[in-house]
Amino acid sequence: MNDQPPHVLAEDLRALFRAEPEAVAAAVAAALSDEATTLELPGRLAGPGVGAERALALVTPYVRGAARDLGDPGFLAHMDPPTPWPTWVATLLAASTNQNLLHPDTAPAARELERRVVDWLSPVFAMSGGHLVPGSTVANLTALWAARELTGASTVAASTSSHLSIRKAAAILGLRYAAIEPTVDGALSAADVADRFARSAPGSSGRGGGTALDPRTTILVATAGTTGTGAIDELDPGAGAHRPAWLHVDAAWAGPLRFSRRHRHRLDGIGRADSVAVSAHKWLFQPKESAVVLFADAERAHRAVSVDEAYLQVPNLGLLGSHGATAAPLAATLLALGLDGVEGLVDHGMAVADRLVELIDAEPRLARFGPNHSGVVAWRHRYHGSAAIRAELAGAVVSTVDIGGRTWLRSVAANPLADPATVVSAVLAAGERLDRAEARPQRPES
Ligand SMILES: Cc1ncc(COP(=O)(O)O)c(C=O)c1O
Repeated sequence: MNDQPPHVLAEDLRALFRAEPEAVAAAVAAALSDEATTLELPGRLAGPGVGAERALALVTPYVRGAARDLGDPGFLAHMDPPTPWPTWVATLLAASTNQNLLHPDTAPAARELERRVVDWLSPVFAMSGGHLVPGSTVANLTALWAARELTGASTVAASTSSHLSIRKAAAILGLRYAAIEPTVDGALSAADVADRFARSAPGSSGRGGGTALDPRTTILVATAGTTGTGAIDELDPGAGAHRPAWLHVDAAWAGPLRFSRRHRHRLDGIGRADSVAVSAHKWLFQPKESAVVLFADAERAHRAVSVDEAYLQVPNLGLLGSHGATAAPLAATLLALGLDGVEGLVDHGMAVADRLVELIDAEPRLARFGPNHSGVVAWRHRYHGSAAIRAELAGAVVSTVDIGGRTWLRSVAANPLADPATVVSAVLAAGERLDRAEARPQRPES
């Protein structure tokens, strides 16, 4: 007989794992209040716990108090958006039920929810289906894995402006990586790709710019919205006789332009892809980690990246093992906004970037790299280096990007609450402070 007392009292267990909604609501309200002050975290974990309320008070300032406000009018920097509040509640639900989509018996409805979200998104990109993943790094890797399995391809070709996750995926999958120089605008040219494919054909002299590529063994990656400048590759390179073994479109950033009747043509040709990656935690305003990998023939692609095992009820699909209900916040957002609401937000983002372009063009002290292709603008102060400007900025946040040996300021219109005038004024004011500090006449940076 075991007369040891239980390690934890039943009422304590209930308080921890079966909290009253009112208690949770009070804790959420406290965490979201503006009064979070930073408390010192212990260097070493003590024996006795501090209790839930105190623990949350300790953690909150590190997550919330010191966090950059992505919805600040002066924040026009990265691809990280502020999130709409229904996603906060849906994320709480997903955490509180902790369903694992790997096991249908723990998550029958959450699996259905994910299927439904994928069904809503797939037609937007002219794909037949897919699944959710924690980011486009994983979406790209999954797509290239399916491509390798189904085509036997040995090379991944992408522009030098493609995201580093493509190089990582090629390395992980043991595929050769062929980098192609884009046009000056930063986009991959269909003519250049077709030329490389043609030069690998028997009887071709093979002479011309860049290495020849055999389309039969090449997975071609086109980027819809490059990370640096938002450029959009010609999305149907190598159509016809020189179609690559697989065409993957990395639409991590600019994919949501497909929701916009005004801008969707910018991604024309995406329907010819074999696979598409889109980060929902970028221009679909989701909390991290949320993205989708879609396939033209999802059934076939899913079979290629599924592994069965004795303890599983259904084969494990894709790269993840355990996988939570990240569909919940995405479903809540898509239902709350509808197609029209998403379109409105994407159009608004493009308008914010257009306004930034106008302000830059109207100001002789500023210059920009190129047009607004997809809500990303690379720009600079003509008289001061971008690193110095950024270090001097107050009341605004921009990122930077190196292009051709020069550092540019970079603004991404992921923040629907951004005010481009605030950002431009802050950059000009930073320049004036630098002028005064350097006490020298203004001369354009060479
Ligand atoms: C074009 C592009 N592809 C892929 C990624 C990687 O996406 P994630 O950060 O969702 O893994 C990014 C991220 O910025 C990106 O810009």
